[in-house]
Amino acid sequence: MSNPALPIVVLISGSGSNLQAIIDAIAAKRLHAEVRAVISNRADAPGLQRAQKAGITTHVLNHKDYPDRESFDQALIQIIDNYHPALVVLAGFMRILTDNFVAHYQDRMLNIHPSLLPDFRGLNTHQRVLEAGQDKHGVSVHFVTSELDSGPLVIQAIINVDSTDTAESLANKIHQQEHIIYPMTIQWLAEQRLQCKNNQLFFDDQALASPLIWENNTLLNQNT
Ligand code: GRF
Repeated sequence: MSNPALPIVVLISGSGSNLQAIIDAIAAKRLHAEVRAVISNRADAPGLQRAQKAGITTHVLNHKDYPDRESFDQALIQIIDNYHPALVVLAGFMRILTDNFVAHYQDRMLNIHPSLLPDFRGLNTHQRVLEAGQDKHGVSVHFVTSELDSGPLVIQAIINVDSTDTAESLANKIHQQEHIIYPMTIQWLAEQRLQCKNNQLFFDDQALASPLIWENNTLLNQNT
């Protein structure tokens, strides 16, 4: 770990359990990153307390204080860029982002979405997976492009859907996987094992043609 820690800014709107997983991975030295700031668009996001407890600077930027998406996103850019992050991490940030915002952070903004993209973009994924009768579900980590819940896929964790599962039990299972694969992905970026250039992914210096798969606690394939 001789490289400097990867400077990141994390954006949240809610519980922040993924933020907590990142904080914990840094504390456990599994992740060589530094969370320079946590920003929430909601003052009541419990994740803000998680950040404060870890001694991380927090900001609240309420989207309702801005006349439109463009002005909110511009204000957000100003705060984020004060911290000079190499990576912006969306961790349950419940906002649709403007094209200008996305373009500003091209190749350096990650999102985590609770489905096996491109299936089940948008909200309420667990309920929709149950209603569709799927026997597999999962979570995807991807770089952000202007289309909602799309962009180059880094890794997907897959879980089984059992007959007894509810939307809540699926949410719990998915969260467990998220807390593993999100810090893991950021660590790959910190050690430059993973790179994104012009929306093209490289893993171990090879173009990544399809996402890495995490199943049964194992990194399964590397279809380059
Ligand atoms: C996660 O399920 C993530 O996939 C989605 O929002 C949720 C955030 O959870 N984008 P938390 O706030 O990190 O607990």
